[in-house]
Amino acid sequence: MRTIELQAPGGIENLRMVERPTLEPGRQEIVIRVKASALNYRDVEIARGSYHTNFALPLVPLSDGAGEVVAVGPEVSRFKIGDRVCGTFWQRWVGGSFVMAEASQQRGGPIDGMLSEFARLDEQAAVLAPPHLSDIEAATLACAGVTAWHALFTEGNLKPGETVLSLGTGGVSLFAVQFARTAGARVIVTSSSDEKLARAKALGAHDGVNYRDNPDWGSTVLELTDGRGADHIIEVGGPQSFAQSLKAAARCGQINVIGYLGGSEGSINPLDIFRRQVRARGIPVGSRESFEAMNRAIAVNGLRPVIDSVFPWHEAAEAFRYLEHSSPFGKVVLDHMQ
Ligand SMILES: NC(=O)c1ccc[n+]([C@@H]2O[C@H](COP(=O)([O-])OP(=O)(O)OC[C@H]3O[C@@H](n4cnc5c(N)ncnc54)[C@H](OP(=O)(O)O)[C@@H]3O)[C@@H](O)[C@H]2O)c1
Repeated sequence: MRTIELQAPGGIENLRMVERPTLEPGRQEIVIRVKASALNYRDVEIARGSYHTNFALPLVPLSDGAGEVVAVGPEVSRFKIGDRVCGTFWQRWVGGSFVMAEASQQRGGPIDGMLSEFARLDEQAAVLAPPHLSDIEAATLACAGVTAWHALFTEGNLKPGETVLSLGTGGVSLFAVQFARTAGARVIVTSSSDEKLARAKALGAHDGVNYRDNPDWGSTVLELTDGRGADHIIEVGGPQSFAQSLKAAARCGQINVIGYLGGSEGSINPLDIFRRQVRARGIPVGSRESFEAMNRAIAVNGLRPVIDSVFPWHEAAEAFRYLEHSSPFGKVVLDHMQ
C-alpha cells in the first residue's frame, strides 16, 4: 500500500510517499480504506519539528481521517465490513475524565496517522461517521470538532442564552460557532479579518470583533454583552490573548485553554482570575464518548463542517504549506480517492 511518511523532522519537504506492506487486522482491530484525511495546526508543527514533543520517525502524519472498513479481526464486535468510520484522536480514551486517557496515545504522532491508502485502528478507537456527511466532511471531525464539543458540552455544560466567545476563525473556533449556535447560545467571534468576520456571521455568529484593529477586544466583548461578559471562551491565542480573554469573561465564566496561535510567551495577573471567579481549564481534544455525542448532534441538526480547500492526497506537502501560510477559513482536507 502507498503511505506518506515524515522521514526527518524540520521540514514539510521531508514528507515522502513510500510502499509499505499490506495491513492485516489484529484480533480486535479493523483496517479501513482511507477516503479522506484532514490537517490540523498540530500536524504542521510536527512536520516542521516545532511541536512540543518529538516523535520517533518515520511517522505517518495526520490524526484525522474517514474511510470504509475493509477488514475486521476475529473478535471485532463494534464494526462490520462496509461501515464508514472516523478514527479517534486518542487511542484508548473511551469515556470519563482525562485520567482515563493516561495510557493512551495520539494518532498522527506517536501512532501512525491517516495519510495512507489504508489504516489499522483498534475497534475502540473509531466511531461511525455521521451518515449525511461526505467522506471529505467526515474526515475533519476527530481533532478540531471534538475539541470544540468537549470544551462547550462535555466540560462546559453550555446552556441556551449563554454567551460563547470563539477566538479566531480556525478549525476549532468555527466548529465552536456552529455547535454553540445550534445549542441556542449567543455567539461572538474574533478575527484579524473583517471579511472572515462576515463569513463567521453568515455561519451563525451574532457579533464579530477584529482583534488586529482592536487590541482591547476584551472591553468590546463586555460592551456587546452589556457588561456581563462571555460565559464560555474558546481560547486558542495563548498567553498574549489570555489577558483579554480574562477581561471578556463573565463572572464564573469558563476559559477553555486550547492553543497558542499567538505564541507561547506572555504573562497574566492571576488576581484577574480571582476577581472574576473565572474557571480556566486545559482541553486535550476529547474522548470517544464526546466524539459520539458530537456526531449525534451533527446528524440531528444537519450540521456540515466548513471546508476551505481539498487537495489530492499525493499533494499533501502543498496542503501542509497552504495551512501554514494561507490562513484558511475552515478545514484543509486531502482527498484519497484522487
Ligand atoms: N488542546 C487541544 O486539544 C487542541 C486541539 C486542536 C487544536 N489545538 C490548538 O488550538 C489552536 C487552534 O487550532 P486550529 O486547528 O483551530 O488552528 P487553525 O485552523 O490553524 O487556526 C488558525 C486561525 O487562528 C486564528 N489566530 C491566529 N492567531 C491568533 C491569535 N493570536 N489570537 C486569536 N486567533 C488567532 C486566525 O484566525 P483569523 O484569521 O480569523 O484571525 C487563524 O486563521 C492551535 O494552537 C492548535 O495547536 C489544540
